[in-house]
This record gives sequence, structure tokens and C-alpha cells, in this order.
Amino acid sequence: MYKSLRSALISLSIISLFIVGCVNKSGELQNVSEVSASSAIENLAQTPPMGWNSWNPFGKNVNEQVIMETADAIVSSGLKDAGFTYIVIDDYWQGERDSASGILNYNSERFPSGIKALADYVHSKGLKFGIYSDAGTLTCGDQPASFGYEEKDARMFAEWGVDYLKYDYCYCPDYASQNNDYKMAIDRYKTMGDALKATGRPIVFSICEWGPRSPWLWGKEVGGHLWRTSYDVGDKWDEPRNESSQIGILTSIDVMMDLERFAGPGGWNDPDMLVIGLRNSGFIKGGGCNEIEYRTQMSMWCMLAAPLMMGCDVRNMDEVTKSILLNKDVIAIDQDPLGKQGFRVYRKDGIEAFKKPLSGNRVAIAFLNRNTKEDKITLAYKDLELNKDIKYSVYDVWKHSEVQQPAGTISAVMRSHECQVYVLSPEKK
Ligand code: GLA
Repeated sequence: MYKSLRSALISLSIISLFIVGCVNKSGELQNVSEVSASSAIENLAQTPPMGWNSWNPFGKNVNEQVIMETADAIVSSGLKDAGFTYIVIDDYWQGERDSASGILNYNSERFPSGIKALADYVHSKGLKFGIYSDAGTLTCGDQPASFGYEEKDARMFAEWGVDYLKYDYCYCPDYASQNNDYKMAIDRYKTMGDALKATGRPIVFSICEWGPRSPWLWGKEVGGHLWRTSYDVGDKWDEPRNESSQIGILTSIDVMMDLERFAGPGGWNDPDMLVIGLRNSGFIKGGGCNEIEYRTQMSMWCMLAAPLMMGCDVRNMDEVTKSILLNKDVIAIDQDPLGKQGFRVYRKDGIEAFKKPLSGNRVAIAFLNRNTKEDKITLAYKDLELNKDIKYSVYDVWKHSEVQQPAGTISAVMRSHECQVYVLSPEKK
């Protein structure tokens, strides 16, 4: 009798263990909400994050009205349904840091309702909310930053309901010093990465160190989900790598080459934000790009499994901008669950070809014309590192239709700076 009561009690406690808790790797009991929070943290950014950032269009002039109207426009334009979910306020949301409490205030003139209320508004639209800070003493826009206040700031961000933190690297100790620059960057990002994790809130951590300290080598280890590979991309087609001014779309693509092995579910190379639709307006300028060049940025960012952070004023998009940003066929390449970054397989006389393996044994192929005149190309499967024994059907993601191709080859005609993108699916026998 006693024995059976005891075994009943033991089974009851085992069952209740399953109901209210689990045992973690070190044998400690965790409750269900802790377990689901930690798996939500582990499952962040399984595909490249998509959203909008205030920097390119608004810079210093960002305010709560703009953010609320942007959230509305992202929903009403269909951008939310296309996958753009994170709305990120970049630099210039901050006020003073209180010297006694160490609390970082927000700018109450431009954000009179406060950041928490703004996050609530963004969440009420079914979107996610992001914010910006910097690992040094000041941000790149000379606002108070998080050096020495990482835990305090992370806790405050979590209390506000922040889902994404872009973390810059201006004004850091040992910046560009001969002997400690690299190690310092890893330390600073790890300190914030740990602080974010300690809040228990799933927060995407966007490392913005611009590439000089090879963040693709350590970004994931310090808790990052994406890391900038380049300096800021301006609204311009071609401008070489340069620390003191913006680079062009082409340079940003080139900087991503050979980094594909560092990207995958949970951690992505970030060639900076989209300039599509800016047309030399907004904050960052750069001279502007034409429609073909904007479309090429979208194509190549998707081929490279890049985070897609829009950077135009989505409240006032023209039809061309909409058609580029809302192209679900090209977005599907970016968001493919296999999570492979595409790579260059061919480069000659200004014409390049890229390949991105996709789920379901499919492959995306892109042809890019860097030249100033129209050009055409035909490449055999072997030049594209494709299996010549497979017969593929070819779908043009900008024409939104299947296209006929001569057997064993892929051809494309490209206007100057144009990029053609095809999805190849093995035909059923
Ligand atoms: C740096 C970043 C930009 C932007 C500004 C804000 O330049 O690279 O993306 O966040 O700072 O000051």
C-alpha cells in the first residue's frame, strides 16, 4: 500500500515536472516560460531580418510621428505581409544620461509620449520595434552611448519592449589602436550581447562595426545575429571603399565576396541598408541611383542573403519603389530556409554571375552587368557550377514567369547596371 502510494507520488512529481518545468543542460529545473524564452532567443534571425530603419530617410530629424506613420504605411502598403517586420529608430532618439541614476533619457521634444508608448504602438500593428546605441562613450552622432552602462541600458530596452538593437562602434576606447582595437571590439560587443541575453527578452543584436575588425569571425559568438561588413552605403552606384565617406552599391557587393561561409540561420553578413526609393532625398544623400540600379540592389541583397532593412520614406513610395520592395519572388530567395549566402561563380569584362543554393534542390542564378552599356551573356551549366545531368525549369523573378532557355545553358540580356535573377527548379521526370 505504502509502496504504491510512494510510486504514485513519484510519477505525479515526474508528470508535474513535465507540466511546469524542464531540466536544463546543467541539471537545474527551469519553468516553462523560461524554456520558451530561451528557445525564442536561440531561434532569432533564422532568416535574414527584414524591416525599416530611420537613418537613411530621416537621420537627425526622426520623431515619434514619423515612426507611427511609418508603421501604419508598412501595414497598409503590404510591406508587413511581404515580411518587413522590424521598425528600427536609429541615432538621435536619446536625451541626456542622468548622472546620478545613470538612466539614459529619451529626447522628450521629438518623442513626447516616450519610447515605451512608441514600442507599444508598433507592437499593436503586429510589427517589431528596434532601437540604436553604440559601444563607445558617444554614438556616431555624438549622443550618449552605452559604454559602461550596458546592463542598465539593456534592461531598459527590454522593459520598453525592444526587439532589435543596432549597436554602433564610434568613440570606443582603443579605437584603431595598434594593439588592442580588435580585442576591445570583441569585449565591448560581448558585454552588450551578454546584457541583452540576461534580460530574457528575445532581442536581435545587430553589430555595426563596419568590417575592419572582421566581425564575421566573432559576431555570432558574442551574441550577434547580423554584422555589418562595410562602411555606410550611400544612395549611389559606384564609390570605392573609404572610411570617411559613403561607399556605393557595387563596393558593398564586392565586400561580401568570400564571406559566404560565415552566414547562415542565426547569423548574417550585413552589407548595410537598402537605398531603394531614396532618389537622393532624405538624410544621407549620395547623388541617387536610377530604377535599374535600385532593382539591382534588391536582387543582389537577396542573392547574398542580406538583411533587408528599407531606408526610404515608406509613407511616400512611388510605384517603382513599391514594385521593387514588394517583389515576393525575390524576397523568397533572401528568406529561403536553407540560409545560404550566394557567391560569385563567373567574372569577366564587367559581367558577373552569382549562384545561391535554395531549399528543394533549387538554385538562384543572377547575372550582373557592371558596364555602362547593354550586354548579353550565355553560360553553360558547368560555368555556373550546375549539374549538367539535371534539367531545370527557369523562372524569372522580375518578369514573374517561366522563361525558355537553350538546353544546358542560361542566357541573359542586361541593360547597363541591370541584374537578372532566375530560380532554377529540377524538372520532375
Ligand atoms: C554610423 C552607422 C550608420 C548610422 C550612423 C548614426 O555611421 O554606420 O548606419 O547608424 O552611425 O549616427
